[in-house]
Amino acid sequence: MVRQTTQEVLRLENVTKSFGNVQALNGVSLAVGDGEVVALLGDNGAGKSTLIKAISGLHGVDSGDIYIGGKKAEIRSARDAMNLGIETIHQDSSLAVDLSIARNLFLGREPVRASFLGPLAPLDLAQLKRQASELLKRVGIKKNLDADAPIRALSGGERQSIAISRAMHFFAKIIILDEPTNNLGVEETHGVLNFIREVRDAGHTVIYITHNIHHVFQVADRIVIMRQGTIVADIDAADTDILEVEAIITGADRRELAAEVRRK
Ligand SMILES: Nc1ncnc2c1ncn2[C@@H]1O[C@H](COP(=O)(O)OP(=O)(O)OP(=O)(O)O)[C@@H](O)[C@H]1O
Ligand SMILES: [Mg+2]
Repeated sequence: MVRQTTQEVLRLENVTKSFGNVQALNGVSLAVGDGEVVALLGDNGAGKSTLIKAISGLHGVDSGDIYIGGKKAEIRSARDAMNLGIETIHQDSSLAVDLSIARNLFLGREPVRASFLGPLAPLDLAQLKRQASELLKRVGIKKNLDADAPIRALSGGERQSIAISRAMHFFAKIIILDEPTNNLGVEETHGVLNFIREVRDAGHTVIYITHNIHHVFQVADRIVIMRQGTIVADIDAADTDILEVEAIITGADRRELAAEVRRK
């Protein structure tokens, strides 16, 4: 049974995807409502990133349907997804490493001077740099990064923060974060969690993949757990706890796990 939500923004129906012999998604159905923060959990290889890549146009699905705002969507590229209001920060960062930080923040949506010139309008580089610096501050990057520096020159954590700043700026309807706090320092991690709360308070929808269950309980309204390409639990965060979630992720019995913890 797919859980019903109010004001559905995204729905997946029976989505499957395999890579050779690996059935990465095995009939996934899920509905996500307006303004929800959904944590998508599961062990390594459970199919989380594959699911997100299907929604964000990085690869197609073998069968099943995706609906955005109640309408069936054909998502064939990252651009299709962006046009449908879906912004994704992938686990393996989706930045153009040879372009500057500032250019990566806007990727084809840069502020221009004389916008009536259409694609020929010159970039407003001063504004680009100014907006880029403001965005970096908002995600908690204190270090003075030069917006003109190429992405190549940044650490993994700094790159992740750039991608997050981008989703923040364009304020997409659905923001998907695939392990956004990997490689991040304490300050930047707080920035990401605050960002998730800010976006939710503004009525947008977030799908958040992480292995950090403590973070999940800090921000998620709802917890969806995958195991071997299927959804095995879909619960309100308020109705569960860390122990139960861990047990479902691993497939262990809750009582056994509780007993194990008590013995420690
Ligand atoms: N491009 C690919 N080619 C072949 N197999 C793939 C590909 N992408 C994913 N897989 C396989 O599909 C399965 C699901 O992978 P996926 O990346 O979705 O897992 P995940 O839940 O995101 O795991 P993690 O928590 O480690 O990121 C795995 O067995 C993985 O090896
Ligand atoms: Mg993954």
